[in-house]
Amino acid sequence: MQYSMNSCTLQTAASAAGQGQVFRFWNELDDAGRKKLSGQIAALDFEELNLLAAEYVIKRPETTIPADLEPAPFFPAEPRTGEEKKLYFQADQTGEELLRIGKVCLLTVAGGQGTRLGFEGPKGTYPIGPVSGRSLFEYFAGTVSAAVKRYGKPVTWYIMTSVVNDQDTRNFFREKNFFGLDPERVMFFTQGSMPAFGTDGKLLLGAKDSLSLSPNGHGGTLLALRNSGALDRMVRENTPVISYFQVDNPLAPMLNTRFLGLHELTGAEMSAIMLPKTNPYEKLGNFCTSGGHTQIIEYSDLPANLAESRNPDGSLRFVAGSPAIHVISRDFVARLTAGGKLRLPWHRADKKVPFINEAGTLVKPESPNAVKLESFIFDALPLASKTMILAGKRETMFAPTKNQTGVDSAESCREMLLDRDAAILEKAGFTFPRDKAGKRTADIELGPALAADPAGLTRFAGRKIVPGTREVWE
Ligand code: UTP
Repeated sequence: MQYSMNSCTLQTAASAAGQGQVFRFWNELDDAGRKKLSGQIAALDFEELNLLAAEYVIKRPETTIPADLEPAPFFPAEPRTGEEKKLYFQADQTGEELLRIGKVCLLTVAGGQGTRLGFEGPKGTYPIGPVSGRSLFEYFAGTVSAAVKRYGKPVTWYIMTSVVNDQDTRNFFREKNFFGLDPERVMFFTQGSMPAFGTDGKLLLGAKDSLSLSPNGHGGTLLALRNSGALDRMVRENTPVISYFQVDNPLAPMLNTRFLGLHELTGAEMSAIMLPKTNPYEKLGNFCTSGGHTQIIEYSDLPANLAESRNPDGSLRFVAGSPAIHVISRDFVARLTAGGKLRLPWHRADKKVPFINEAGTLVKPESPNAVKLESFIFDALPLASKTMILAGKRETMFAPTKNQTGVDSAESCREMLLDRDAAILEKAGFTFPRDKAGKRTADIELGPALAADPAGLTRFAGRKIVPGTREVWE
């Protein structure tokens, strides 16, 4: 059998690299198990993994903060000077034109494991709709439909999955009939995986016939776009502009004309939305510059003296936090991944990873026992010849669903969706019931198409919203 022939070579390579433990249970495996394990191991580069183990696992990498670190400049959410007003007007027009001539495609990263949310199944299938229970994917799909209708052009939506959720994600879309979208215009592609290391740098087995594999971080998007053929498709369909957002943020501005237009007009290779941080230690990456390059320093890595430093007017110096919303030029992805290789730094995370011990028993650790390595999309920023950062508005752009309750949770996300919808209704002339403190006393959930294009609200003209109302308006 082919795989067992190869397995000898693989076993020799694994042993030579000091990773022979991955074959510990080979003799107990049936054909299918052997095929699975040898397939996983054949995809590894032991030399590189051992270098990574030495650099990131056995040693704990130190983040060095460049001496010339400065806050990154950004465009304000609203123009302040005459020049800015002119530029923003042009940007709005340019963004609109990009959409009208079909130059923009959408990219959702949905390969993560969503461990904090603790939900069985892909995060995109999570029922986030505050009244309807519609899924995160349905929110995005509704916005795509609205854009197709409004701009009269098909829009291709790329969805990155991972080994842990690819099949379930595809099945979900099939079951939901692609939410009425053209299935030909939805392309799923799968990101790469990384094996988990024990703290001694040895690869862990998650089962006797399997390494402990997990998605390689959203930085894996870039290479996966090339390897999957998505990049070629973007060339074929002539969509040079990629709107990038995360599956756990149903407020993500997927088709924001100003953001798209400023990206185009400034000639940026990668652009980002920034949100003003609410406190020095808010858990958002910090937009900074060093040596003329934009970079993100994670909140946990920004030293206190910088995090807390203030401008003369009392505002935070390092105020720009990242909600992970980007516009990326297709040619930039092609340049970065030319030759099928891309080197982004790895980030270490200490995790509790179930593993098979020497005796062949599955151990579920109580405390972190393993190291996972991930790369992050924002590490592409310093590699861009030009970047553009635009200030965004939290209440209309960022409702992350990381946890079940509390900060950045499904609960807070639902509240933000309802608040956003109430604001849309009020802007459209509806009277929304509120208590003395200004808090909503009714829950009206707008369908994503209505939220994207409130002109459709004329259908509801004359409807009264009384305290306690709980409805979905589509
Ligand atoms: P997070 O870093 O919040 O990770 O991902 P997560 O997997 O969703 O949740 P936790 O940390 O396990 O609780 C931010 C975004 O990046 C995507 C996620 O799907 C989410 O949209 N992502 C993350 C990937 O697509 N691939 C990855 O390998 C990691």
